[in-house]
Amino acid sequence: MAKGNTQVSRLDSKSTNRDEELAQTSVTLGKAPIAIPEIVLAPEEGPARVISIVNQKGGVGKTTTTINLGAALAELGRRVLLVDFDSQASMTIGLGIRPFENEQYGSIWYLLNDPQADIREAILKSNVPGMDFIRGHEDLAAAEARFVSEIAKEHKLRKLLAPIINDYDVILIDCSPSLGTLTVNALTASQGVIIPMECEFFAIHGLSLVKETINIIKSNTNPALEIFGILATRFDRKTAHSREVLELIANQFPTEVFDTIIARTIRFSESTSQGEPITTFASSSVGALSYRRLARELIFRGGCK
Ligand SMILES: Nc1ncnc2c1ncn2[C@@H]1O[C@H](COP(=O)(O)OP(=O)(O)OP(=O)(O)O)[C@@H](O)[C@H]1O
Ligand SMILES: [Mg+2]
Repeated sequence: MAKGNTQVSRLDSKSTNRDEELAQTSVTLGKAPIAIPEIVLAPEEGPARVISIVNQKGGVGKTTTTINLGAALAELGRRVLLVDFDSQASMTIGLGIRPFENEQYGSIWYLLNDPQADIREAILKSNVPGMDFIRGHEDLAAAEARFVSEIAKEHKLRKLLAPIINDYDVILIDCSPSLGTLTVNALTASQGVIIPMECEFFAIHGLSLVKETINIIKSNTNPALEIFGILATRFDRKTAHSREVLELIANQFPTEVFDTIIARTIRFSESTSQGEPITTFASSSVGALSYRRLARELIFRGGCK
């Protein structure tokens, strides 16, 4: 892939003059709209930025964000690797692997358990050019018990990714809805965290728990860990409640909340059931445009090269 600051993104040709239709934190909260530049430079040289997609609350859009943000970053010329770090293996299935095809051999669980395994052999190509992935597996559920007495168990994923860290610009880790051993591994391997959250009453307490965990990781295994952003997902523009919760969160975490909001739409479930990102399944849908805007926002905030 061409490097250097002269290359602009492939996205420019189909970038969003519909940005104003997309839900934005600024506009939703009655502030002046924030503009995200359309032109994105090529990524700098150097090792991949590793980002964990984390929230211990289930069903908030972690997997949907991993797949679609990854696809949007790949459209922007980033070399992207997705890691399915959840025993539900939803990301793997969302990328078109059927559950009965999802063998343990070649999955991230297999890599974690076999020190001789070659990570390159486990990397699969998705249907999006430039976006690869490593499968999850249901046996990841045994991680807690399996690694309990291992020395440096928090560093297993970081070590596993080391040989390929220069082959990618960004590595996104789809975490499970828990803050256990697997998520601690993901956070230890990452420079940053994206926290998708649904704007409902319990979200605020959930965010505090995630922040506490990040602070524990910072003082133990990974001092450089940062929050790259809090992402409002499954956002219902019609309800005052969603808006009120967004306002509370934006007041409490003013620099962290992304301006881009992912509104609620059935197209996400439809694209997952077809085993592809919304960016290819419904390329000009609001959902696809929102994740493209999020990708640009992440780059402009410095969360991704
Ligand atoms: N913006 C959205 N609008 C409507 N539905 C959505 C949206 N984002 C995600 N969904 C749907 O919500 C469900 C949960 O999403 P997803 O699997 O991404 O959440 P998750 O946080 O990864 O869940 P888990 O904690 O179980 O891993 C899925 O059916 C998905 O298709
Ligand atoms: Mg998930």
